[in-house]
Amino acid sequence: MQLQNDLLLKAARGEEVERTPVWLMRQAGRILPEYRAVRNSVSGFIELAQTPELAAEVTIQPVDILKVDAAIIFSDILVIPEAMGLPYEMVEKRGPWFPNTVGAVSDLKKLRVADGVDDLSYVIEAIKITKRELGGRVPLIGFAGAPWTIFSYMVEGSGSKTFSKARAMLYNQAEMSVQLLEMITESTINYLKAQIAAGADLIQLFDSWAGILPPDHYEQFSLKYISQICDAIQEVPVTVFAKGAFFAREQMGRLDCETIGLDWNMEIAESRKLIGESKTLQGNLDPAALYGSDREVEQATKRMLDQFKGSRHIANLGHGVYPDIDPEKVKIFVETVKSYTQQ
Ligand code: CP3
Repeated sequence: MQLQNDLLLKAARGEEVERTPVWLMRQAGRILPEYRAVRNSVSGFIELAQTPELAAEVTIQPVDILKVDAAIIFSDILVIPEAMGLPYEMVEKRGPWFPNTVGAVSDLKKLRVADGVDDLSYVIEAIKITKRELGGRVPLIGFAGAPWTIFSYMVEGSGSKTFSKARAMLYNQAEMSVQLLEMITESTINYLKAQIAAGADLIQLFDSWAGILPPDHYEQFSLKYISQICDAIQEVPVTVFAKGAFFAREQMGRLDCETIGLDWNMEIAESRKLIGESKTLQGNLDPAALYGSDREVEQATKRMLDQFKGSRHIANLGHGVYPDIDPEKVKIFVETVKSYTQQ
């Protein structure tokens, strides 16, 4: 189906756009009362994510309510461990929790490489329904976690301040770490290909825990696998968002992807210099800027846009929108980007 608004895809490919496209990481869910109403009609996050009609409904909410230029499919990065044989639970107010984790080779033997179509059919079905219901209004973003971030959860079993179990494994059990990272990479490629076949127009990889690795480990245990995924996905534009990986920006400029996401610690001009002119940059307003007054949100957004001016850019925050942000502030952010004129 022909897209009525393809600004995101054009900007990703470096084509001329009449204005900068805008969307927000974690726009589906979290901040909208309309989302909470749907979520309260089921047992919780996991049932919602596994009910394709409802997942499609909450995917489209931000397009209707916040007027963003893209939808992102409602799911989670942790569906991959589950599809590999490691189920998770979402504990209210605390986040994800895995009853079983990977600590030894015997644990690895119980896992399998996920097949994107069969093991994750509920996400694939949600993408098909969403595409139909969007009717070409805006592109649909598919996503997955980067292998290192998924590895961290599978070893640690939950979020962590230090991820010391996962990082210890890179030193103590390097061979097994590589085996697990390879299994995750293969599963992720299968999954992303299935998302694209179902209609995803662009793919984003989230490496949320990039920033806890030293540069040499980041290259060896994370970028290597991100690079394999980028090489495998040629059908649609790919965005790589590696939070905290300021030290790897130059290498990221050499990935076979269209867009690099910047977090809010990454200085814009310096990032452009390190990454080069051949990529679109996405980001990077401080998510906390949306706690400001209406006028402050508008000014902070304009300052960010001024710094990206004249170069390939997709407007976003520097990380996911925080759960307690007033949706009205998000609307001001979106509206400011839309009405900003390039001089
Ligand atoms: O962007 C979107 O809105 C699409 C949906 C999406 C979710 N999670 C839904 C979700 C996406 C892209 C994610 C990615 C994700 N999940 C990441 C990478 C992005 C990032 O923020 O760094 C990570 C690290 C996770 C793992 C995860 N899932 C955590 C740590 C938590 C708990 C805390 C939190 O972030 O809300 C989740 C739960 C989760 N994933 C919720 C939603 C809407 C909240 C669950 C609820 O409704 O109570």
